[in-house]
Amino acid sequence: MAQPLISPSILSADFARLGEEVRAIDEAGADWIHVDVMDGHYVPNLTIGPGVVKALRPHSAKTFDVHLMVSPVDMWIEQFAAAGADIITIHPEAGPHVHRSVQAIKALGKKAGISLNPGTPAKMLDYLIDEIDLVLIMSVNPGFGGQSFITSQLRKIEAVRKMIDKSGRDIRLEVDGGVTRETAPLCVDAGADVLVAGSATFAGGPERYAANIAALRGQA
Ligand code: DX5
Ligand code: ZN
Repeated sequence: MAQPLISPSILSADFARLGEEVRAIDEAGADWIHVDVMDGHYVPNLTIGPGVVKALRPHSAKTFDVHLMVSPVDMWIEQFAAAGADIITIHPEAGPHVHRSVQAIKALGKKAGISLNPGTPAKMLDYLIDEIDLVLIMSVNPGFGGQSFITSQLRKIEAVRKMIDKSGRDIRLEVDGGVTRETAPLCVDAGADVLVAGSATFAGGPERYAANIAALRGQA
């Protein structure tokens, strides 16, 4: 299979040692660092704010892939950009004017991503595809790590891969939720080129990170 980029979700890291954990996954071969921002309103969990992203920024030079699961989202975009996000991904349901939110991200010089929940159709992208840099397919309902992969999302990955290829634009296709060494090849075969993995990266502690990341990439 083609080798995907791996973006470990620090949601599964040891929060008491977050800086060290980010350094450890960077050294273990992570391509990007995935930061799950949850507000206890858009999703039933509360995680990381811009202050934490700013504090983590000196610990890795790799791409900070910031996934905003917050509503309303617009008021947070500038703060996460200033904190050091490289990619800012939003959910279309998390604000009244998703096209405008995408423009706001790009105006700050950041890459813009759109995330589709399991129940959200690929069609949502029809009038956004010419504006965005990344599509994030949620293969679990957002809110928690460690959930099981929803296989119906493989069809959506295939559909979005076709849309991206047709657009001719440089757009990353990322999958998030329940990605393991078993489900990773299914995602890549369906057309994904970036895999987010929380539990599967951090399982077994720091001495396993490099092997876990390699296995997700299909190198095991
Ligand atoms: C879910 C988050 C995911 C999650 C992935 O709302 O967006 O990034 O942390 O965790 P795993 O890989 O454990 O399913
Ligand atoms: Zn995520």
